[in-house]
Amino acid sequence: MAPPIRVRRPTCEQERVRPRARPTRASCEGTSPRGPPQRAPRVCEEESSCAKSGRRHALSLCVFSSLFPQFLWGVRSERTLAAPVGSLRAPTARERAAIKDGLSQVSKGKAPVLLRLVFHDAGTFDRETGRGGPNGSVRFELDRPESRGLKRGLKVVGDVKESIAAKGKVDLSYADLIVVLGAWAVEVCGGPRMDVLIGRIDASEPDAENMIPDENLPAQGIKESFARMGLDTLDLVALSGSHALGGKGYGDPLTFDNVYYKTLLEKPWLSQDSMKQMIGIPSDRVLPDDLECRPIIEKYASSQAAFFADFASSYAKITTLGYSS
Ligand code: HEM
Repeated sequence: MAPPIRVRRPTCEQERVRPRARPTRASCEGTSPRGPPQRAPRVCEEESSCAKSGRRHALSLCVFSSLFPQFLWGVRSERTLAAPVGSLRAPTARERAAIKDGLSQVSKGKAPVLLRLVFHDAGTFDRETGRGGPNGSVRFELDRPESRGLKRGLKVVGDVKESIAAKGKVDLSYADLIVVLGAWAVEVCGGPRMDVLIGRIDASEPDAENMIPDENLPAQGIKESFARMGLDTLDLVALSGSHALGGKGYGDPLTFDNVYYKTLLEKPWLSQDSMKQMIGIPSDRVLPDDLECRPIIEKYASSQAAFFADFASSYAKITTLGYSS
């Protein structure tokens, strides 16, 4: 068994190298959107000169932003705007033992639907309002068109929840269990081992509709949908590698590997072979033609280790949206 990839939510200093130069972590409070963390401001000895320079800066900012309104919006878009709904923690030894016991009864064949459930639960997050996110609300959203097929995944989550509560006397939220089972799905299919934090609070009603991106959106639309959650293009490309699992034609349906990216570069859907034309879904097919996505796809196609490392980080991001850790 591969050693666990311990994922810490990256701070601004630890920010991975991304195609964009600016840090994009939503939780980097106290950090300049354009540079390294700010030190505590030095006390200004000359009050009047500070005040003057402050007024000058304010004036320049007003003039600049009236000429380039997207400047202010751009700065704002780098941050999570809503306050966290709570904080997460590592499971205790007793909780870990109960989880391990509960997972032992799940069959590997359920891995694809369990991983997909993570996206459908968390992918409703809106960083402006703080609504949605990994909150177990997917159990109230099963009649939506995008939720087709998810019911059997949720049945597994419910069964594991009951078994953990009965045997281990541990009460985990649906939201936590969905994330735990998604990480299990990745690992059991040969992907990275990921530690998961717990403490998510279950919603008691469905999240807003039309938040999960439509599979027929162009690449830009999907990127915007991820940006609304506070996720960037690297997260989009890394997490889309989940489609390695399931029956969309990216190699073995129960093997989590980088065949997905190799296939995207080959574009089999353009082939004359009618079987190959069926490979993938529209949201996958637009990625290799997107200038920002392409280099990331190439990187993962040539290095499974790079894919696994980034996937683990992006999984930690999507599964903690709305929370501080
Ligand atoms: C980029 C936006 C995405 C779109 C538009 C999308 C859409 C879809 C669609 C249409 C399917 C096929 C469902 C079916 O067979 O009926 C699918 C399968 C799947 N998706 Fe996504 N998805 C996206 C991102 C993600 C992400 C971020 C994850 C994981 C975190 C994920 C995990 C999966 C998995 C594991 C499957 C296979 C499920 C199975 O075969 O049971 N998807 N997705």
